[in-house]
Amino acid sequence: MTQNQWSSVDDYFDSVLGNEDPALAAAAQAHVAFDLPDIGVSRPQGKLLHLLARIQGAERILEIGTFGGYSTIWLARALPPGGRLVTIEWERTFAEAAAGHLEQAGVAGVVDQHVGRALDILPTLAEAGGPPFDLVFIDANKPDTPEYFTWALELSRPGGVIVVDNVVLGGAVGEAGNPDGGVRGMRRFHEMLAAEPRVSATSIQTVGGKGYDGFTLALILP
Ligand code: DHB
Ligand code: MG
Repeated sequence: MTQNQWSSVDDYFDSVLGNEDPALAAAAQAHVAFDLPDIGVSRPQGKLLHLLARIQGAERILEIGTFGGYSTIWLARALPPGGRLVTIEWERTFAEAAAGHLEQAGVAGVVDQHVGRALDILPTLAEAGGPPFDLVFIDANKPDTPEYFTWALELSRPGGVIVVDNVVLGGAVGEAGNPDGGVRGMRRFHEMLAAEPRVSATSIQTVGGKGYDGFTLALILP
């Protein structure tokens, strides 16, 4: 099995299942302008997030890590009338690019964009005391994932769902001695999950156009 094969199968699924429009296509290319690797979620993964939000009946969604707004568009399009999505991005230039893509996608009116350090902004959401979130998607700087998860639990309702991206990191999550901050963050996150009686969770390895990685799906027990 090779990256070429994973990519061509993703291309096949995309060609059969559609799932693209100009706004999503523009958001998917956001990394080019910033000379970054292609770090957004793939099309099949974006659609998975959308379907999870619909299955969950999510009316309030929190996203930590907007980047170019690709996953934001998929999630926002899952909202029912009256639903809202809050998304947090540390890098202002990414947030500005995302704003354009959200506008183009027709979802800017249901998205509240916050720019700044998520660990500063999340407490302000708690203080504001709005209704709890039904679904949280964590896809930001990897070392702080455990802290983001703690806030996701704090800000969500019982029965809420938390999805975490990049929990496999090319397989490195299995390496106990790996000194990389992201790997250590994902291992600490899993230790936290193991010790957390309020959630039931699984972590799934994935391959595809974006390589070998995976996600965690956690249900906050009702
Ligand atoms: C990176 C971040 C991501 O969220 C991702 O899905 C892939 C890569 C990164 O920072 O390298
Ligand atoms: Mg990611």
